Amino acid sequence: MPVEWTSPFTPGLPVPVDSFVGRREVVEQLRAKTARATAGKLQVGFVAGERGVGKSSLASFARFLAERDQKLLGVHAFLGGVGTLQEMIRRLCQALLTESARTAWRRRVLTFFGKHVRQVDLYGVTVEFTAPEKELNRLVNDFAAALRSLLNKIKHEKKGLLLIFDDIDDLARSAEFANWLKSLIDQIALSGKPLPLCLLLVGTEQCRQSLIHHQPSLARTLDPIPLEPWSEHETREFFKKNLQKAAMAVDDAALQTLSRYAAGLPVIAHEIGDVAFSLDRDAHIDQADALRAALAAAEIIGRKHVRPQLFDALRNPDHHTALKRWAVNPPGMVFSKTDLLNKASARDAAAITSLILRLNKLGVLERDPKRSDDAYRFADRLHHAYLLLEAQRAARLKKSQ
Ligand SMILES: Nc1ncnc2c1ncn2[C@@H]1O[C@H](COP(=O)(O)OP(=O)(O)OP(=O)(O)O)[C@@H](O)[C@H]1O
Ligand SMILES: [Mg+2]
Repeated sequence: MPVEWTSPFTPGLPVPVDSFVGRREVVEQLRAKTARATAGKLQVGFVAGERGVGKSSLASFARFLAERDQKLLGVHAFLGGVGTLQEMIRRLCQALLTESARTAWRRRVLTFFGKHVRQVDLYGVTVEFTAPEKELNRLVNDFAAALRSLLNKIKHEKKGLLLIFDDIDDLARSAEFANWLKSLIDQIALSGKPLPLCLLLVGTEQCRQSLIHHQPSLARTLDPIPLEPWSEHETREFFKKNLQKAAMAVDDAALQTLSRYAAGLPVIAHEIGDVAFSLDRDAHIDQADALRAALAAAEIIGRKHVRPQLFDALRNPDHHTALKRWAVNPPGMVFSKTDLLNKASARDAAAITSLILRLNKLGVLERDPKRSDDAYRFADRLHHAYLLLEAQRAARLKKSQ
């Protein structure tokens, strides 16, 4: 690793806008949405995708473009762990305050919140939203009117508002949120008055389905914006661009290996890239370096992104034989157990069956009886990719022993 460089990879953080890779179509889709919002037509979208596929980064990039090119005010609220509408509103308002604290028009936002704001530092850079329960309830019930009044206060600087509701897993389970959303949308539509507002919800497809389950008419309004894993081309671009930033060369075969193990998931790509960067000694990534990085990243991914029980199970020598076999014939996201065991020795078949049982217990593998009696599917792509990495690691360990 050249000492003068710091890693261009950002595992665990939403990607900085200048490092954002790919997603051209979906970015254009969001840009069109925010443009319609600035024209006064309420827009509602749901960015749906698997864990670590880049939902928050996409929302944050869309917000950057909407602010820069369309004069929208973007507010990105992370709502993980939020179970009530009052807490949701509190986090949204806090995000809005934090956002506007850096602007020239912050005073007008402060007057909008009136006495419910506490200045934490001398210069008003850190402000805290301190509204009591009663005020939060008022905002919950009168959200559309509050947004109109806010937009009116900043109408010379901003043409509209982009509100991002991120990490809504917990909220999406509540009928209260689904009903609130539905009545907010109806209220704005029925008012007949234009409101330049784009609501962007961010979560897994299961979250979207859960909202629709609670409030079926949301199926029409929650315009899905599915976020798929990166294509092979996008993944290669990602590695190329970032390694180039660190003045490192990379072979074509190495790019292929890096991209294969990243499995289209930005979250994994960043972990592998970061390890490749720190292990490197000659500013050149060849195939052996790429493989070493991927296998070392398995440990980091196992400790950071999956449950400890899974990490422990896969590192347990009991599953070594099964993983080794898995590496030879890795199953897809959906597979038949019979196919997987085909041509396996009795010992390997027993080992794989026991691994499958364990993965099923941990919720990593689910049965898929609609497909066939012996069909299994991975609950998500992150686990599928992680298992492949652990399998390759197990296969190599055996070889070097
Ligand atoms: N388009 C992109 N270009 C470069 N890096 C990206 C891109 N999208 C995501 N990343 C990176 O991938 C990782 C995961 O991204 P992000 O947090 O946006 O995913 P997510 O889908 O919101 O994850 P979660 O389901 O955990 O909320 C982060 O390290 C982020 O920097
Ligand atoms: Mg996220």
